[in-house]
Amino acid sequence: MHQAIDRLGTGAGGTRNIAGTTHEHVLLEQSLAALHGKQAALVFTSGYVANETSLATLGKMMPNCVIFSDALNHNSMIAGIRNSGAEKHVFRHNDPADLEAKLKQVDPKRPKLIAFESVYSMDGDISPIAEFCDLADRYGAFTYLDEVHAVGMYGRRGGGVAQERGIEHRLHLIQGTLGKAFGMVGGYIAGSAAMVDFVRSNAPGFIFTTALPPVIAAGARASINHLMNSEAERQAQRDRVAVVKQRLAAVGLPLLDSESHIVPVMIGDASLAKQVTDLLLERHDIYVQPINYPTVPRARSAFASPPARCIRMR
Ligand SMILES: Cc1ncc(COP(=O)(O)O)c(C=O)c1O
Repeated sequence: MHQAIDRLGTGAGGTRNIAGTTHEHVLLEQSLAALHGKQAALVFTSGYVANETSLATLGKMMPNCVIFSDALNHNSMIAGIRNSGAEKHVFRHNDPADLEAKLKQVDPKRPKLIAFESVYSMDGDISPIAEFCDLADRYGAFTYLDEVHAVGMYGRRGGGVAQERGIEHRLHLIQGTLGKAFGMVGGYIAGSAAMVDFVRSNAPGFIFTTALPPVIAAGARASINHLMNSEAERQAQRDRVAVVKQRLAAVGLPLLDSESHIVPVMIGDASLAKQVTDLLLERHDIYVQPINYPTVPRARSAFASPPARCIRMR
């Protein structure tokens, strides 16, 4: 990052297509494509923008397209799908049978896209990616997977859950963030050269905004390349998560039995969730965030935090 700032300055100075693309952006996109074993990648100013503008573009530009969306998809995907104007079918969370029932109802000739996440950040559960890919094959649909809560943390090179399960080649587009495990800011999609080029050429959220600062692109690339070659952080995180889960369970706290690194403790009441987290901080120097409406429905208030963030304050 120091070298990039010396060579290229702070901001990108323009949109990607008008002077905003530097060598750092090109190298970052190459690293992201390599991370996911894809032909190409495209960087956006956030993961939110990546989802919103990619899904809006795909849904709008593929004539007569139908989008199938998991009921618990992130707001950025919902916004993109809504803005695409495409016909939308919401299937029950992580439920292949319901997805299949909805796919069956649509004319086989229409272009279809299935949009879902790998790790769902509020409950910490993981989607049945292979089953969804099987259905996509059977019904001729594209697959779009949000790996925001998995990149850097899962898979032998940090490519996410699809990589960990050896099926990343079955996803047409993988979306991720540079803002969580990679410690920067920004978002991206990775996929075939043709699909990435299609989004690059048509997505307003890519075309009409100042490019990510090259210094951020350089930092993200360093971070990605490090995590592609080091398993130590992933192992340390798994160890830490196991201890947190085991200790919470040992004292009888109602933690959700998640398969991921996310450890939600359900409180079920917004003001109680706040009281619990205040008390943890005041009495025990433990800082965790309450998760309340509108992030989750009111009845699902919790405290949930990746253990990396459960830091002791003093
Ligand atoms: C599942 C999911 N997708 C996308 C995003 C947006 O990513 P970013 O924070 O990089 O905008 C988030 C939240 O951060 C998220 O939880």
